[in-house]
Amino acid sequence: MNIVITGGNGKLGQNIVERLQKDNEIFLITRNIKKTEKIFENKENLHFYNCNLELYNDIESCIHKIFDEFKNIDVIINNAALDIDQPMIETTKEDFEKIMSVNLFAPYFICQKIIPRMKQNKFGKIINISSDLSIRTVKNATEYSMTKAGLDALTRSIAVEYGEYGITANSVNINGMKGYTTKVNENILFSKEDKDYDDWKQSKERIPLSRRGNFSEFVDVIEFLCSNKSSYINGVNLPVDGGIIAKL
Ligand SMILES: NC(=O)c1ccc[n+]([C@@H]2O[C@H](COP(=O)([O-])OP(=O)(O)OC[C@H]3O[C@@H](n4cnc5c(N)ncnc54)[C@H](OP(=O)(O)O)[C@@H]3O)[C@@H](O)[C@H]2O)c1
Repeated sequence: MNIVITGGNGKLGQNIVERLQKDNEIFLITRNIKKTEKIFENKENLHFYNCNLELYNDIESCIHKIFDEFKNIDVIINNAALDIDQPMIETTKEDFEKIMSVNLFAPYFICQKIIPRMKQNKFGKIINISSDLSIRTVKNATEYSMTKAGLDALTRSIAVEYGEYGITANSVNINGMKGYTTKVNENILFSKEDKDYDDWKQSKERIPLSRRGNFSEFVDVIEFLCSNKSSYINGVNLPVDGGIIAKL
């Protein structure tokens, strides 16, 4: 399948790309092609497209370029996001616009530009990487929570509006992943290994499974949603969170 992914050079993104690259063509939408190419040196089936997701024109021209070279996109994985992690009253208009643009507007416009082709093909799978913070929230996450709640709503809306054309849309609502170890160096920054990340910085009580998820556990679900095994799943905001949401 032809799979578009944003944020493919990020922590989760690298793990998704590594897994899916073996059997699919992957189109990485990135604002940093050099860094991204370095991370995936010697890997096959990868195509790189420059795009700053804050910019509508970049998104539009990037999708045009992909369609100039390839006829179909089968899967979109909207994975890129940022978090500004500060009190709401300190958030500037620029901060606000940036997080809205990358986390919510970009997925919207990417879907808007690709869905017409999916409609023609009568097939498409949209996977939005959301968060448990779309449903619950914590301090200093107002804007992030807003974007992820919006992303969940976008997911359900696409599912309802385009299901009749064989297009499914689902989100994966993951909880906090492991953070980098204290010994951060360039290799670790680019690492895809669970062992290079700290397990925990917050209390474990919140999660019924008492541990953070491994990258592979998140990628398993994303891979499943990309596959035909999930063909009747549509419009779901699927928690992959060790039970956090169930405990609310
Ligand atoms: N980390 C967590 O604990 C956690 C928890 C719940 C949900 N999630 C969700 O999981 C997904 C992946 O998270 P992650 O922690 O793996 O992210 P990450 O490592 O911080 O990577 C973020 C990615 O987004 C890209 N990006 C940011 N701004 C961009 C822009 N303006 N244009 C193009 N690309 C841009 C970054 O590209 P550059 O390399 O160019 O910066 C990077 O590839 C996100 O949707 C996140 O909200 C994460």
